[in-house]
Amino acid sequence: MKRVAILISGGGSNMIKLVESMVGDHPARAIVVASNDPCAGGLTKAAEMGITTFSVDHRPFGKDRAAFEAALQQALAPHAPDIICLAGFMRVLTAGFVQPWAGKMLNIHPSLLPKYKGLHTHARALEAGDAEAGCTVHEVTPELDDGPILGQARVPVMPGDTPDTLAARVLVQEHRLYPAVLRRFAAGDKTPVLLSGE
Ligand code: GAR
Repeated sequence: MKRVAILISGGGSNMIKLVESMVGDHPARAIVVASNDPCAGGLTKAAEMGITTFSVDHRPFGKDRAAFEAALQQALAPHAPDIICLAGFMRVLTAGFVQPWAGKMLNIHPSLLPKYKGLHTHARALEAGDAEAGCTVHEVTPELDDGPILGQARVPVMPGDTPDTLAARVLVQEHRLYPAVLRRFAAGDKTPVLLSGE
């Protein structure tokens, strides 16, 4: 059974879907949920689901990313995760943290990568006049929002969409895609999962 740590920064809706998926014959189990924000709403929700939680607040570390990442790594180590899932984790991780987890750390990003790395993905897709949008799960490499793609889900852009309405449509697909990719990945299969929704 693979041990999965999930890192969040916010409400944790993707985290909840991942935790809920890891039951029965699933090859992995959620063992810990961690956040860089002690107030992240997802921490309470994870605790309510019976998952161990902790936070390492990034703010006292200021600009010292390496020190923050060392503290995070140290706090994760006793849980002995086999896989780390970034699920709305909004800190950029440097190579020092990423490299030891090469091939074992996944991220979900709300765009059809390689389009729109970084922030404000939905606004940028709308500004570009794209006919479709979506989300991507990929392996984390030191370059931001890069790394081998493990799955994508596409949705149409609708007339009158705002960044919020598009984000909501994409989020529905995030909740399908991430659990599907994790199940496959935990079983040792990196074949991309390709979904489309409405
Ligand atoms: C999700 O839409 C996720 O794709 C995005 O943050 C949201 C978190 O929502 N992640 C990023 O933008 C990463 N750069 P959640 O906390 O409800 O899962």
